[in-house]
Amino acid sequence: MIIDCYNNVSLLNYWKLCFSTFSPSYMRMVARRNRLNDYKWLFYHKDHLLLHKKLTEHVILGAERWSGYDYGEGYFYQSCKQIGITGFRDTEARIKQIDLLHHTAGKTVLEIGCNSGFIAIAAMTGLSCITHTTPPPPYIPNLPIYYTAFDIAPYLIDIAKETATFLKLQNLDFQCTSFEKFNSDRKFDVILSFANHSTFDGKTEQTVEQYFMRCARFCADDGIMIFESHHPHYEKNLGEVMQVIDKYFIEQSREKVKIGNYYDVGRTVAVYKKK
Ligand SMILES: C[S@@+](CC[C@H](N)C(=O)[O-])C[C@H]1O[C@@H](n2cnc3c(N)ncnc32)[C@H](O)[C@@H]1O
Repeated sequence: MIIDCYNNVSLLNYWKLCFSTFSPSYMRMVARRNRLNDYKWLFYHKDHLLLHKKLTEHVILGAERWSGYDYGEGYFYQSCKQIGITGFRDTEARIKQIDLLHHTAGKTVLEIGCNSGFIAIAAMTGLSCITHTTPPPPYIPNLPIYYTAFDIAPYLIDIAKETATFLKLQNLDFQCTSFEKFNSDRKFDVILSFANHSTFDGKTEQTVEQYFMRCARFCADDGIMIFESHHPHYEKNLGEVMQVIDKYFIEQSREKVKIGNYYDVGRTVAVYKKK
């Protein structure tokens, strides 16, 4: 069966398809390694066993019921150090790379396509490894004052809500909706668009132009948008994407990601002011 799918490729290319860092088979292997890594962590953090069990149940339900692509390839796409989860993407490194906490301090934030919500959770805990027994005080000056995050996949939002409840986080609103259907009377100080302007899962109906027009619509007049590209392995027309962004936003800074996992490094991140 496997040989059939790859009938037209040489043995060397077949090997590359199976074991290139972005092939599903390789990523599933990394996902399994991450899971094993987290079992070790759980051995020393038994108070997190029940949470991990519940999160795993959501992952399994997602695999059974969700028709879209599983970005975590059977485990997690994003890491969450606070609860001992390893993912393909290093949440802590991403936050440090863009100095996210500096941009979101005391601001209202909207995150588009938040996946399992672990960036939001890290931001709302100020990246600290608190446990559920030590909830943060109601207002810490360097935290966002309010954070809304949404994703189209219900099981990912269940994971996000479960984790936020476990950590007793406040002022954090997770919603299950597509960006196309998302609505709010609020305008947000900070819009986060991380690897979301196009998605190869077939779940994004709007064009890149419509996507950034909507980003501008929900951005406060003096607000900013922080953009992260897809990995260069997937993002072939970044110049065109950035030309579209330039219609609605003014670029303040741009850099290539240098820290994090293999799946983080090499992406482009940029901060924009609304036009
Ligand atoms: C490549 S992942 C990026 C996740 C997250 N932004 C990050 O960078 O860690 C794309 C995410 O977008 C979500 N998604 C896909 N189409 C969407 C849509 N139309 N509206 C909202 N979320 C969508 C997927 O479920 C997935 O979690």
